[in-house]
Amino acid sequence: MTQMLDFARACAREAGRIQLSYFRGAHLNIETKFNLHDVVTVADKESERYIVDAIAKSYPDHAVLGEESGMHAGHSDYRWVIDPLDGTTNYSQGLPVFSVSIALQYRGETLLGVVYAPYLDELYEACRGRGARLNGRPIRVSDKSDTQRSVVATGFPIDKDRNPDNNLDNLSRILPRVRGVRRMGSAAYDLCAVAAGFLDGYWELNLHEWDVCAGTLIVTEAGGEVRAFRTDRNISIVAGNPVLVAQLSACLSDKPWSGTL
Ligand code: IPD
Ligand code: CA
Ligand code: CA
Repeated sequence: MTQMLDFARACAREAGRIQLSYFRGAHLNIETKFNLHDVVTVADKESERYIVDAIAKSYPDHAVLGEESGMHAGHSDYRWVIDPLDGTTNYSQGLPVFSVSIALQYRGETLLGVVYAPYLDELYEACRGRGARLNGRPIRVSDKSDTQRSVVATGFPIDKDRNPDNNLDNLSRILPRVRGVRRMGSAAYDLCAVAAGFLDGYWELNLHEWDVCAGTLIVTEAGGEVRAFRTDRNISIVAGNPVLVAQLSACLSDKPWSGTL
């Protein structure tokens, strides 16, 4: 496990170096994917290619799920889950919150997770049963038990241009009950900020495995809880300490939006 964690850390740092080499430059090659709001850059593609190739060289039997290149089948029960650049909208605008997210699963259970935010030079990591760390130092979720003193983050789904089930219902219930709401722009970083106690809580709907796989282990290994609050919108989760997760869950809609357009 130590060897695989060292490997994941090295991959994340190298992908981060690739990202910083293009950051705020003139050659991002911004393209759109699902809609005009969904962007991808040369740095997303190059980072994923680097990580997928590195895994193929070091662990040729392992499967890989990468956001940009999809599933690479393997011959073992190990599977890497990768978001090569989480927070591409921030990245493409020159905003500093973006990260690389790398997780390793065995038969569907996440064994290790690394999230690296290169501009901030923050490396979060966790191994199952061994706690979570930020730049080598142990981290823990905040112990606040009162939403009125809490600062939480969220995000908005990419299909918000056509789907009115866009998280505003949850936001309108939570906003008056908390000290502040942030939209950081990188789900993997949001989860790590919860793990370190920089955020007290986080919720978002319509996420994907690559967004949350590493970050979820990092939160739970930091003493927190990550709970699904609905199952009809891909991955929809709320994170924080268990007391806050219960309080936020009570404000979250677990039913699909049922209004008319
Ligand atoms: C996005 C970020 C964002 C979240 C979106 C994700 P990407 O990932 O994590 O914070 O709100 O749902 O798709 O596209 O930058 O890898
Ligand atoms: Ca992502
Ligand atoms: Ca991404």
